[in-house]
Amino acid sequence: MILVIGANGMLGRDMTALLGDRGRGVDIDGIDITSLESVERVLTALRPSVVVNCAAYTDVDGCESNQETAMQVNGEGVAHLAMATRTIGARLVQVSTDYVFDGSKGAPYQEDDAPHPLNVYGESKLAGEMNAVFNPDHLIVRTQWLYGLNGKNFVETMLRLGSERDELSVVDDQIGSPTWTVDLAHVILALVEKGRQGVYHAANEGYCSWNAFARAIFQEAGMKVSVNAMTTGQLNRPARRPLHSPLDCSKLAHDCGYRPQPWRDALRSYLKLRK
Ligand SMILES: NC(=O)c1ccc[n+]([C@@H]2O[C@H](COP(=O)([O-])OP(=O)(O)OC[C@H]3O[C@@H](n4cnc5c(N)ncnc54)[C@H](OP(=O)(O)O)[C@@H]3O)[C@@H](O)[C@H]2O)c1
Repeated sequence: MILVIGANGMLGRDMTALLGDRGRGVDIDGIDITSLESVERVLTALRPSVVVNCAAYTDVDGCESNQETAMQVNGEGVAHLAMATRTIGARLVQVSTDYVFDGSKGAPYQEDDAPHPLNVYGESKLAGEMNAVFNPDHLIVRTQWLYGLNGKNFVETMLRLGSERDELSVVDDQIGSPTWTVDLAHVILALVEKGRQGVYHAANEGYCSWNAFARAIFQEAGMKVSVNAMTTGQLNRPARRPLHSPLDCSKLAHDCGYRPQPWRDALRSYLKLRK
């Protein structure tokens, strides 16, 4: 059985749905990953063969003012999962982020590029990656710019703002790959089925700025909204973000024969589904 932790979250829900009878989901009401006792109790009772950790403290700006919580959930929580999965002989799949990089490479990041997080969220997720290796049978899947039916995300924010205004400003100097949680869930399952270990990058194919993504959302949704350009500096958020952090997913394609669809096709599928 494959156990999904963080099963009520955006990725967790799609992951659990994809697994169907092969999986089971738990969230904060059934397991608290910041407690080793809670993790051990649930894992020894359920005895999964694979644990997919989709639980995290994902409020990137909130992490700046709640550093302790970020490290407890995103760092120590993964250590607890690594120890408990190792004890029961299960594989640990840890979901991580492009925010472990600083965006200065000038080209898509490969799995063995040196991490250098710019913010507390990235530091805590990197701590989680380092803790995942306590279980030698681990898989770390780094992804980025997620959207899905079951969570707060950029697509939903744009659709809401676009229904209220006919003009808005969106940053055009951050580049990444918008990624649909359904596609990511398929990637994770494919990697698990192939028995892959180590680090993999997984995102929808191609990359763009948030500004270009916003324009695509309005075009695909048939909404007439003018999207002006602004800089990350003008937005002035508490957490620094990498400006150019696309993930090179060629290792995934090579080892797994799996290439997630182009981001714009994924966006089209998502918009069709949410109607
Ligand atoms: N969203 C993105 O753009 C993005 C980008 C790159 C990587 N990722 C990574 O992808 C994964 C999934 O992200 P997501 O956006 O789907 O997350 P999400 O929607 O925020 O869901 C996370 C889930 O974890 C639960 N949780 C929080 N603390 C917990 C704890 N101590 N014990 C057990 N469960 C806990 C949350 O419950 P509550 O809601 O009750 O707190 C929530 O249901 C995360 O590892 C994230 O770091 C996300």
